[in-house]
Amino acid sequence: MIDPITISKIFDAAEIVDVVNDFVHLKRRGSNFQGLCPFHNEKTPSFTVSPAKGIFKCFGCGKGGNAVNFIMEHEQLSYPEALRYLAKKYGIEIQERELSDEEKKLGSEKESMLIVTKFASNYFAENLMQSEEGISIGLRYFRERGFSKQIINDFKLGYSPEERDAFTKDSLKNGYKLEFLEKTGLSIVKENFNFDRFAGRVMFPIFSLSGQVIGFGGRTLKTDKNIAKYLNSPESAIYSKSKVLYGLFQAKQEIIKKEKCYLVEGYTDVLSFHKADIKNVVASSGTSLTEDQIRLIHRFTNDVTILYDADSAGIKASLRGTDMLLEQGLNVRILLFPEGEDPDSFAQKHSSSETLEYIRKNEQDFISFKAQLLSDEAKNDPIKRAALISDIVRSISVIDDKIKQSVYIQECSNIMNINETVLYAEVAKITRRKIQDLKQKERSHSLLGPSQNIPPVPAFVDKVYFEAQEHEIIRLLLLYGNEKVVFVNHESKENVDVKVADYIIDQLRNDELEMKNILNQKIFLLAEQIIKSNEKISADFFTQHQDPEISQLSASLCSQKHQLSQIWKRKGAQVVDEEKKLNELLEDLFRKYKLNIVKEAKNKLQQQLKDAKTTNKPEQILSILEKISQINEVIKKLSELQGRVIM
Ligand code: CTP
Ligand code: MN
Repeated sequence: MIDPITISKIFDAAEIVDVVNDFVHLKRRGSNFQGLCPFHNEKTPSFTVSPAKGIFKCFGCGKGGNAVNFIMEHEQLSYPEALRYLAKKYGIEIQERELSDEEKKLGSEKESMLIVTKFASNYFAENLMQSEEGISIGLRYFRERGFSKQIINDFKLGYSPEERDAFTKDSLKNGYKLEFLEKTGLSIVKENFNFDRFAGRVMFPIFSLSGQVIGFGGRTLKTDKNIAKYLNSPESAIYSKSKVLYGLFQAKQEIIKKEKCYLVEGYTDVLSFHKADIKNVVASSGTSLTEDQIRLIHRFTNDVTILYDADSAGIKASLRGTDMLLEQGLNVRILLFPEGEDPDSFAQKHSSSETLEYIRKNEQDFISFKAQLLSDEAKNDPIKRAALISDIVRSISVIDDKIKQSVYIQECSNIMNINETVLYAEVAKITRRKIQDLKQKERSHSLLGPSQNIPPVPAFVDKVYFEAQEHEIIRLLLLYGNEKVVFVNHESKENVDVKVADYIIDQLRNDELEMKNILNQKIFLLAEQIIKSNEKISADFFTQHQDPEISQLSASLCSQKHQLSQIWKRKGAQVVDEEKKLNELLEDLFRKYKLNIVKEAKNKLQQQLKDAKTTNKPEQILSILEKISQINEVIKKLSELQGRVIM
């Protein structure tokens, strides 16, 4: 229990702007402050802090409250935990009793885990500086890499002893519970032995925004290729690697001050930059940048420079990152270090001012970057050139801000030597398509939820004859047209029941597909008529039809107990009554049918592309490439679907 007098002291000290400022970059707006809301995703600030009233309020998501509420919400702490947090921040002493066992149990799991990670980070840090092994192996390693005492302290670097359960044993001896050692991933618990995840590694603690240690990266000092160079804490209640940026806690003030954030790949890149006195730097730690990480950066600045290795993986990673950053409204610059160098090695070899100068001179905005990256290759190859333009145009189209967009278009036009009007038209086309996609999604959702499990075939695609699928469509229509089946929407998990005939007609009509074979077409149209006049479809009507072609084909199709049995056999399952699997059968059918159609269309387009190369018309090539990319998206979705249909 914290006594009321102390509580009121805490409330008095915790000035709202000061408290929030640790997590959100606030700018003055009249008598209030504004920033990007940390509780929901936004591009323009609607998060407001009123120092006079001592409260915050987000007009976007509605969250609001006082300084303690803010900490509770932001750090996911209970009321007393938040009070303790603020007391610590403002140096207010709370007399705490030793917790009883009962109280310990009641303490939240997260809190217990944080206590363990805190102990661990102290343990590793002490080991590095004080144990013989730590000094001769760990400390020596850091020294060799040029990391000063200051850096080691600021980042609480450490060393985990080589003995494979040293840490776990010592933790248990100090009263920490195996449960939380395991939950934080520091110990690996096996039936008759517990051992340390990080034994023999130098340790890089990972801090939350508020400075609590939530996880670790550990680097092996062995050169054995079979040992992972870095090990990281597993995902847990306190650590999620996609939501964390290494070094942000140490960098945030400087990011605000410099109005810029450098984004690097690795732990050591961050440390070497700090050593060079460049402190506005964070690392994505080997993962490709996530939206959550971008939001974190955006809380403190609008300007990001990505600094990656010049190897192909580095280039790919930085390209992947740009569109996401642009989409979130950030200004993105990119810099690749010379071949064979990463930010760490470069900063080690050059002085701080040389490094900064190098960055200043060589950072490029993403258009020049993309253009330059491929321009040599693309110069003499019209298809590559068009592909590059289309790639850049796609990046430009994700930018919300129209003014920014037009600046980029101008620049792209200059660099790539292509008419601005063409570029505007391309951007407009992509934007239109996005809107159509959205509408299509809404439409098929309201019409027939499950249809959207199968993506539509783009309108420009020529429809081709595929006998097997046309026949299967007819077979299912005639045999089961009146049956109701339940579809589960893969995304929303909603159930919808639909009549087989309606489903089939919907699938075809929505995509403007039709039977290519005349006889198939006849049967299909007949069936459609029957449905439209609210009659029931009967197979007999078709097998006994007076048109001998119709009756013959219908009879032959309806007598086949079909492909399904083969599929079941392949999967080693029992042959099951296909009536019970109609939903899967139908989805698989249309998936295959559409896949065939778009693949055929892609082949044709690729041929056209070859032909267009000789004529060298960028507009034409652009439009073909755009179509191919649309088709690729559909192919991707259809292929993903294959994994979900449980055939
Ligand atoms: N990484 C990881 N797991 C690995 C390899 C790398 O998590 N097996 C992450 C680490 O965060 C690492 C970053 O990816 O810092 C970049 O990897 P790499 O360039 O290989 O390492 P460096 O940072 O250059 O590390 P060092 O200089 O110590 O070799
Ligand atoms: Mn390195």
